[in-house]
Amino acid sequence: MNVRICESAAAAAATAALVIAGRLKSHPASVFGLPTGRTSVPVYDALVRTRPDFSRARTFNLDEFVGIAAADPRSFRAFMERHLFSRVNIKRRHIHFLNGIAADVAAECVRFERAIRRAGGLDLVVLGIGANGHIGFNEPATALFLRTHRAGLTVATRRANAAAFGGRLSRVPREALSMGIGTILAARSILLIATGHSKARPIKRMLAGRITPAVPASFLQLHQDVELVLDAAAAKGV
Ligand code: GLP
Repeated sequence: MNVRICESAAAAAATAALVIAGRLKSHPASVFGLPTGRTSVPVYDALVRTRPDFSRARTFNLDEFVGIAAADPRSFRAFMERHLFSRVNIKRRHIHFLNGIAADVAAECVRFERAIRRAGGLDLVVLGIGANGHIGFNEPATALFLRTHRAGLTVATRRANAAAFGGRLSRVPREALSMGIGTILAARSILLIATGHSKARPIKRMLAGRITPAVPASFLQLHQDVELVLDAAAAKGV
């Protein structure tokens, strides 16, 4: 793993944005896996400022809440529209998302995996990390899902996502659809960004030299091309 430690959260976001922008420049038809979450907001802001050309790029988001429609402002799809898609020249048909209100969830997960395969696989997956070590919505468990699946969310993760639901835990969905660990590890490159004190522990556990489903991000140690961009607070235990 290539670890880059930046002075501030803003510098980490700018560094991560440059990695994405560089990839777009050298490979304009890249297939990206993209995250949501607070960490990604300044990354998308910095990326937009580079005036990226997304005209040939395709994107697949990591996850979406079950029961939340794409048009709902609380959806991850709406988050992406606000923070990235509406601000760049990506083609609508190149945006791929899991449908949180699909009638047949299992079929929806299969469809998503097929669409990734048809696109030629993911070139660069951008990740954040949960305070409990989750990536996408692969939560700590005794066993992890290989592929895109319906995922149960922990109370801690639901709490971390409560802001979009008026701060009310009871309103945060209990389930999501998420790429699996295998979907993420099959990407050609991975870029993980973590900023702030709350990420120091999961980053330390992720790099501890053990691979365990109790820390889903620890599986990234198996991948040959992972870039980790941290600010000083998140890098405290490294
Ligand atoms: C969310 C998302 C993840 C994200 C993580 C961290 O629940 N499903 O993709 O990386 O939690 O979020 P944040 O950046 O807000 O700390």
